[in-house]
Amino acid sequence: MHTRKQSQTKKTKTSQDKPPVTTVEFTAAERTISVVKEQQNLLDAAVIHRIPHMQECGGHGKCTTCRVRIIDGIDNVSPRNELETHLASCREWDSSVRLACQTKVHGPVKVERLVKTFGDVSLLQGEGLEQSGGKEQYLAILFCDMRNFTPFVESNLAFDVVHIINRLFAVLGEPILMNNGLIYQYVGDEIVGLFGLESQTAEESCMAALRAALGMRTALQQLNDELMSEFGMEIEIGVGIHFGPVIVGKMGHPSHRQFSIIGDAANVTSRIQAVNKTMRTQILASEALLDELPEETVSVGRFKRIPLKGKSHPVRIIEVIGFNQPDDIFLIQQSMPFLFAHESAFAAAFYRRLFEKAPQARQLFKGNMDRQVALLSHVLKGTVYALCRPQNLVMGLQELGKRHISYGVKKEHFALVKEVLLETLSSSIGKGYNPLTHQAWDRVLDIAFQQMQVPMDKADQG
Ligand code: HEM
Ligand code: FES
Repeated sequence: MHTRKQSQTKKTKTSQDKPPVTTVEFTAAERTISVVKEQQNLLDAAVIHRIPHMQECGGHGKCTTCRVRIIDGIDNVSPRNELETHLASCREWDSSVRLACQTKVHGPVKVERLVKTFGDVSLLQGEGLEQSGGKEQYLAILFCDMRNFTPFVESNLAFDVVHIINRLFAVLGEPILMNNGLIYQYVGDEIVGLFGLESQTAEESCMAALRAALGMRTALQQLNDELMSEFGMEIEIGVGIHFGPVIVGKMGHPSHRQFSIIGDAANVTSRIQAVNKTMRTQILASEALLDELPEETVSVGRFKRIPLKGKSHPVRIIEVIGFNQPDDIFLIQQSMPFLFAHESAFAAAFYRRLFEKAPQARQLFKGNMDRQVALLSHVLKGTVYALCRPQNLVMGLQELGKRHISYGVKKEHFALVKEVLLETLSSSIGKGYNPLTHQAWDRVLDIAFQQMQVPMDKADQG
């Protein structure tokens, strides 16, 4: 018999099963999702609904990459906590800019993600300088000049010229961004990159500048193949890198202050770059920069002493040929254009291969596979860009690992996934994949998986 008490109990249970929800509209993703009121933060909600969302530190309120603008419904979000208040005040955010990982909602809101590409993450580095006034800082500076451009400008339509310049800036700028550098300025057909604006060590900043300079050279080779077949032309570059002190701050008219650097080190770098022409070299580094790197890092060629205005001693500059020993981060960065030439193709090929090899793994994946494919590409790409920001990366990977426990993933799955990832990398990268690339990915995947397994180890220990 069905008693009144039983039906009351049943009713109470049903209402507890369904926590109160509200909606969040993500404008650029064109998705409106349900969020548990006052419990889930915006980032967790995006992850659950498989919306690609920047989150380099995995929601610890450290990286600020998850920032969003609340376009509608600002009264429906939780107030800033202490951590977010501090970050917002240093960066002078208005009240509509919020950290998704720290913000809960209690009514409908419309949000826009503010950091959309992995390159955008490097651009956040100039923030917060207004409050510090100005400061002296040691930076690694890179000047890259494009050559052979004038005849092309003179004999082509403005449309083609702008198209090619933009392609060049994109291709040559990416190695700066991938190495946590800031694209500081374009001066005519010259690009200036800065490394070390955050709390990097001198070695990290100089290594980043070196990887960027060598990365530009490889990127140019690929682009030149395309330019030759499309326009019958090739571009040459000259790159100069140097390490020295500059004054960093926001400068200019009070209504138009810009992040700027002033100092001799910038002029020295520009001068080093220019010497490439007479020495007929492609990359020249100052001794000051190479001295910050571990011995024998760089394979070097010719060198020269150049006199500089206002300096009693000439500066010693050295031709950079490449790395002496394989550099894992550099090798992995080199695979990126091949891997993500067709956004999600790599991840789709990976899952096909995984389910062929281990059909039983398919049952772990319960959600929409197209979204899963897009997210895997997004996270892998983000991981490569974050290799130069290891503190954030470690936090992000551990959070990802924590979520994987709830997906039913066990430590023993990682060996299989690694094997399939390496096979897919080898077939996707094609002729650019060699034993050194393989070793680099093998080692870096081991480190990433180790971090993802930290929460699993903790759970095993009780
Ligand atoms: C390189 C390492 C890995 C990366 C970058 C990665 C990335 C991702 C991402 C981005 C998601 C979407 C949800 C979220 O962000 O939490 C996800 C979900 C998932 N991953 Fe991974 N993953 C990795 C390793 C693994 C391994 C070793 C397994 C074991 C088979 C696995 C199985 C799953 C499953 C079952 C889901 C949930 C899918 C669903 O709900 O449909 N992943 N992974
Ligand atoms: S600050 Fe939100 S993910 Fe890093």
